[in-house]
Amino acid sequence: MAHGSQVLGSPPPGVSFGPEIADAVRSLGDGPLTEDALRRHVHPLFSRVLRRDEIYLSNHSLGRPLDRTADDIRHALDLWYERLDGAWTHWIEASGRYRAMLAALIGCSRPDAVVPRVSAGQGLRAAINALPTHRPRIVTTRGEFDSIDFILKTYHRKGRAEIRWVAPDERGLFSPDAIIDAIDNGTDLVVVSIVYFVTGQVLDALDRIIARAREAGAFVLLDAYHAAGAIPMQFDRLAPDFAIGGNYKYTRGGPGAGWLAVHPRHLEQGPLPVLFSTDTGWFAKRDTFDFRRPDQPELSPGGDAWLEATPAVLTCFQALAGLELTLALGVERLRGYSLEQQAFLEDELARAGVPVLDVEPHGAFLLVPSPQHADMTRRLHEAGVNTDSRPAPHDPSSGYVRLCPDILNTRDELRRAATIIGRVYGQL
Ligand SMILES: Cc1ncc(COP(=O)(O)O)c(C=O)c1O
Repeated sequence: MAHGSQVLGSPPPGVSFGPEIADAVRSLGDGPLTEDALRRHVHPLFSRVLRRDEIYLSNHSLGRPLDRTADDIRHALDLWYERLDGAWTHWIEASGRYRAMLAALIGCSRPDAVVPRVSAGQGLRAAINALPTHRPRIVTTRGEFDSIDFILKTYHRKGRAEIRWVAPDERGLFSPDAIIDAIDNGTDLVVVSIVYFVTGQVLDALDRIIARAREAGAFVLLDAYHAAGAIPMQFDRLAPDFAIGGNYKYTRGGPGAGWLAVHPRHLEQGPLPVLFSTDTGWFAKRDTFDFRRPDQPELSPGGDAWLEATPAVLTCFQALAGLELTLALGVERLRGYSLEQQAFLEDELARAGVPVLDVEPHGAFLLVPSPQHADMTRRLHEAGVNTDSRPAPHDPSSGYVRLCPDILNTRDELRRAATIIGRVYGQL
């Protein structure tokens, strides 16, 4: 390869990238990603999904899988057929790679600090159920994703939490100062998104929010679903207590491959740590396969104390190829390319007479505001542009069509999409 290995993001210890991914990414050369090189070297890794005849701009919702993903799942099943219980060693090893890659993705120094969960919501419940108080007081916003919002409302309804909601401003955005003002010495947990799912707003001043929560004696949980793989993250440095996320969007890992990260400072606390969750099971036990049953639960050291019962293993395999590609390309480069594509699409939309909501800084997608957002999405689907839309957090009678280009979208597609969007928008 012309440029040697420096052009390939380095895999975390214990992980090596598959040869097709490694070769493709090395062939891109170093420096910013370009459409020509991506088309030549990376698009062939997606031959199955690229056969579809549509312009796919729902990459923020369900990421497109590599061809290898199906082979990885097949491999996990072959292990079962061929080795029966001997498959466990390989399954658990794949789960270790999954955890190591997620840790690298979010800037966490300890792979064991990331534990698999089926969903982000499950991660939230594990964190709430670890708090030292039975009825925690939680500060959150009206802009959290439906799963998070619904879980928090359910805890409230059951009398298992008291929720203080921070409202958005008249543009649907959240002010860090409003969140900080809502935290007081009675607050036990603060739950906020790094990137808001409706508006794409990147929540500024997370370090100030976390510092205020610490000062008040509260824990912080960050929802990183629209951040991990889309914008660079520094979990260790930022130092929230928890983060939750999953792989079905930017890391192309499909549903079921969620995760919870627990900050490393909470992991070295002996057999009965201060912070441990009732969401647990025998894989969290010290010496799982010794079958000892002391009356006091003895937890595994480190992050394995946050594992649960018998784990889902296929979802780890399902997420491997997407995580490898994301790490090999590097989130910084992906972010740079995403911003370039978004700027291009925004210009094309302006030319077609379509306004875009100006949110700075924002994540990986653009927003077209419209009271008829749902109708517009349906018509766009019919015209061959796959997008989605969500009601606005400050005004449910209005909403936004979300448009997320990724490395598989070409400029030609974005130009054509803008023309179609302009036509549909003009007909509403
Ligand atoms: C910000 C955010 N959090 C969480 C989720 C998914 O939550 P769960 O995995 O609990 O279904 C999504 C899905 O779109 C999301 O956008």
